[in-house]
Amino acid sequence: FIDSVKAREIFDSRGNPTVEADVILSNGIVGRAAVPSGASTGEKEAVELRDGGQRLQGKGVLTAVNNVNTEINQALHGADPCNQAHIDQLMIDLDGTPNKARLGANAILGVSMATARAAAQTTNQPLYRYLGGTDLELPQTFHNVINGGEHADNDIDIQEFLITPVERTSFRDGFEKITNTYHTLKKVIEAAGYTTGLGDEGGFAPNLKSSKEALQMLHTAILDAGYTPGKEIAIAFDAAASYFYNRDTHHYNFEGHTYTPVELGQYYLELLDQFPEIISIEDPYSEDDWDNFAAFTKAYGRRVQIIADDPVCTNPTLIRQAIEKGMANSILIKLNQIGTVTETLAAIRLARKNGYTTMMSHRSGETGDTFVADFTVATNAAQLKAGAPARSERVEKYNQLLRIEETLGVDGTRLAHFPADLKFD
Ligand code: PGA
Ligand code: ZN
Repeated sequence: FIDSVKAREIFDSRGNPTVEADVILSNGIVGRAAVPSGASTGEKEAVELRDGGQRLQGKGVLTAVNNVNTEINQALHGADPCNQAHIDQLMIDLDGTPNKARLGANAILGVSMATARAAAQTTNQPLYRYLGGTDLELPQTFHNVINGGEHADNDIDIQEFLITPVERTSFRDGFEKITNTYHTLKKVIEAAGYTTGLGDEGGFAPNLKSSKEALQMLHTAILDAGYTPGKEIAIAFDAAASYFYNRDTHHYNFEGHTYTPVELGQYYLELLDQFPEIISIEDPYSEDDWDNFAAFTKAYGRRVQIIADDPVCTNPTLIRQAIEKGMANSILIKLNQIGTVTETLAAIRLARKNGYTTMMSHRSGETGDTFVADFTVATNAAQLKAGAPARSERVEKYNQLLRIEETLGVDGTRLAHFPADLKFD
């Protein structure tokens, strides 16, 4: 049983404080987990409790830590760590708010993930096996190699340009292709006279003039690395359009232009026509613009994967509404948007049941914790974005997948499933 839970304030990849939690069992086993943090957060995410005030730019998490060490510690003493749903419900009830505002989603998620780790250890299983059972597959990974938007200090409005291996014999084979393309991309960026400093997710953050220029560079890098765009390496992007949406005019202020929603859609179509290797688009419209998001899906949802992130925030209630509206054909899944392992599982199940694909995601502020890698395998989420193949807090997730592949074997590797596997409607 759970003897006690204990949290501490540690620091993430951006140097911001975050919560690390330990769940200590009566048999001496300790499960530990650290909570990530976003920059381009959705409005409806569960509340990340920050102290405010002067200390650490107001970003301290000592209140959340204290909530773990007092109230949550008392509530969980004696509970069975192998009953994840019960533990998570105890914390949801203890919090008593709809968005975990009282205790903090960062406090609750830290304990929720650490509980799963403790339970896996006490039952002598790797985390992915404990959470997932048998018949598991490694995900197709998406790597953010050019960073814009809120993740970089440049003028590109699209937040993430990602590359993904679509033809591979194993996870390792796909990842090797990605690292080759990444290193080639660096040369392409240098040759064009730009700097090769990195953004928050390990991708390059050159001050390019436009999204088209970024896509052209990816296209060139894929070719120069010896691969066929669309056949071996494909492209995806996360527009994170909430961040260039004008809520008063309902227009989009994008790369020096003011676009109506229809014009923005035409721009995306131009990108798709010019770069047919684009297979997935995330948040093409703002989280406040569900009608245009749905209209875009209706128009192009058979051609590309369209992912909803900010509008639904891994929240089953919002996902249900999005599905009713026909918005997107894929759901982005982030544990800390909703705040417990159990609710995240419910979000994934709901999306799948309705024919939506799911992409698991890290946050732009990460730690060395690799929970998300195991969780992706456990849930057969099929897709994972965890940043560039650079910077330890990103690469550690992929290294964990390499370790898992060693155990699962190449037979457990999900091969290319785009686009034939995209089933919706
Ligand atoms: P975030 O970005 O972690 O800064 O929210 C990731 C995303 O928008 O998908
Ligand atoms: Zn996003």
